Amino acid sequence: MKFTGRLALSAAAGVFALAGATHLLAHGDVTPQPVDTTALPDIQPNNDTWLQHNPYRGNAKAIEIGQHAYAQNCARCHGIDAISGGIAPDLRYLELGDSGDEWFVQRYHHGSVRDGKVYMPPMGEILGQKAGWAIRAWLETVHEE
Ligand code: HEC
Repeated sequence: MKFTGRLALSAAAGVFALAGATHLLAHGDVTPQPVDTTALPDIQPNNDTWLQHNPYRGNAKAIEIGQHAYAQNCARCHGIDAISGGIAPDLRYLELGDSGDEWFVQRYHHGSVRDGKVYMPPMGEILGQKAGWAIRAWLETVHEE
């Protein structure tokens, strides 16, 4: 699925702001856990300009941070060790390399809202880009065909 443009993206973000707020209040377990990424190099030109490809691919420190960040922020929906119990897609099957990165960052950054329902919160807006690429670096180490 592709968004048709900026308008669609901001509309989706607006829906999340409304629907998400109640959801977050109702379920304390969805509180995101901050991820300490100070050990990782900053993203160029800056951490708020979203890249399409993972600058940390294969970076051992990023993989370590990513594994922990995943367990704290993604596992409750996507499953422990990325083995999905069926609530959300199994992220071990995401394509490796650049094309997998593009899809990963789209979902991580913006989440997923369909028919006004929040399927996935915009985790990237909450945890930041460095944490996202660290998680992606770890996910590639547990990839399955
Ligand atoms: C509240 C539950 C929830 C949380 C927390 C969550 N996700 Fe998701 N995620 C989903 C659902 C549901 C989908 C499927 C969305 C759809 O079908 O539109 C999804 C889809 C995705 C996809 C696209 C997968 C595919 O095969 O298309 C990626 C990548 C992803 N999530 C990454 C993450 C990461 C990384 C985290 C943690 C930082 C995370 N998600 C946290 C529920 C969640």
